Amino acid sequence: MAEAMIEFQNVTKQYQGGQAAVDGLTMSIDKGAITVFVGPSGCGKTTSLRMINRMVEPTSGTITVGGADVTSVPAAQLRRSMGYVMQSSGLMPHRSVLDNIATVPRLNGASKADARKRAQELLDVVGLASSLGKRYPSQLSGGQQQRVGVARALAADPPVLLMDEPFSAVDPVVRDELQKELLRLQHDLAKTIVFVTHDIDEATVLGDKVAVFAVGGKLAQYAAPQEILRAPASDFVASFVGRDRGFRHLAFSPSDGVTIHPVPTVTREQLRQEGSTDGWQLVVDGALRPLGWAGPGAGAQIVPGGSLFRKGDTLRRALDAALSSPSGLGVAVDDEGRAAGVIAAAEVFAVIESDRSVRHGGL
Ligand SMILES: Nc1ncnc2c1ncn2[C@@H]1O[C@H](COP(=O)(O)OP(=O)(O)OP(=O)(O)O)[C@@H](O)[C@H]1O
Ligand SMILES: [Mg+2]
Repeated sequence: MAEAMIEFQNVTKQYQGGQAAVDGLTMSIDKGAITVFVGPSGCGKTTSLRMINRMVEPTSGTITVGGADVTSVPAAQLRRSMGYVMQSSGLMPHRSVLDNIATVPRLNGASKADARKRAQELLDVVGLASSLGKRYPSQLSGGQQQRVGVARALAADPPVLLMDEPFSAVDPVVRDELQKELLRLQHDLAKTIVFVTHDIDEATVLGDKVAVFAVGGKLAQYAAPQEILRAPASDFVASFVGRDRGFRHLAFSPSDGVTIHPVPTVTREQLRQEGSTDGWQLVVDGALRPLGWAGPGAGAQIVPGGSLFRKGDTLRRALDAALSSPSGLGVAVDDEGRAAGVIAAAEVFAVIESDRSVRHGGL
C-alpha cells in the first residue's frame, strides 16, 4: 500500500452564512504521486487545496502533512514549505523571471548568488531557454509564464506541490505540452502533487488517483482514473465523466497488438510529376517525415494528415490516428519522426475487442 503524505480527517469548511464549501472530507493522499481534485465550479476544490497549506483554515476537522497536524506549524512557514502554482502565473511583474523563481529560496535564507544559480538551473528543468531569465513576466507567452510558475514552486525543492488549475489559461496545444512536461518532471522528482482541474480529461491524463467532488463539497468518488472511467460510483460521477468515457478509457490500454503495415510513399516532387494517384499515398519529405496524403481525385494537392501514432502509444492514440486520417489509415512514425507505416481502424477495433473480452473474462 502507498504511504500517505496528506490526510484529511472529517474536514468541513463553512464560510460565513453559506452552505458548506467542503463537507466532511476524509481522504488520504499518497506520497510521491499525483492526486487530482476534479469537479464542477464551486464544488470546493480550491478551498480543499488551500486548507492543506493554511491559506484557508477549516471550520472543523484536521489535516496532517507527513503525520503532523498543519496547525502545529506557523502558517507562513507551512506555506513556504510547499510549492503553490495557480491559474494566473501569479508572478511579480516588476521582477525578472530569475528573481521571481528565486523568491522562496531567498525567504528561506539562501544567498542571492545561490538562489539565482538554482533559479537558472530550474529554467532548464521546466524547459525554458536560460536567456529568458532576464526578461519580465509580461515579455513571456502564457505557456512560458506557467512554466516559470512551476519553476518558482519547485525552487525550494518542497516535497509537496499544490497546483490550482495551472494550465487552464493556455491554449489546448500548449496545455498538452505542459501536461507532458509535468509527467516527465514528476517521473524524475516524485513529489507529492495535488492538482486541481475542472477538466476530466486532464484529470485522467495526470492523476495517479482522481478525487471527483460534487457541489456542496462532497467527495463523490476517489479512485484510480481508469476505475472512475470504468465504474463511476454514481449518476453524478457518470454524467460528470461524460459520454466519452468509453473512448477515454482506451488511454489506459497499450496498443502492442496493433500491426504496423508498410505504406507506399511519394515525395512532393514525385507527386508533382505524376499528377494524381489512384489510391492513397503518403507524402513525405526528404527525411521521410509525413507531410500529408495524396488521394484519388485530389490531383497534386496534399490532404492534411491526422494525428500521428508512435510505437508504445495507447489504444486511444491508435484509434484517433486511424479515425482522424483522410485515408482511414493512421500514420505511424518512429522516434525520429520518420514514417514507419500505417495502422488500420478495423484492426485497432479488433484489438480493443480482444482486450475487452480478456478483461471481462470472455463472452
Ligand atoms: N472567501 C470566500 N467567502 C465566501 N465563500 C467562498 C469563499 N471562497 C469560496 N467560497 C464559496 O465556497 C464554495 C467552494 O468554492 P471553491 O473556490 O473552493 O470552489 P472550486 O471548486 O475551486 O470552484 P472553481 O472550479 O470555480 O474554481 C463556493 O460556493 C464559493 O462561492
Ligand atoms: Mg477553484
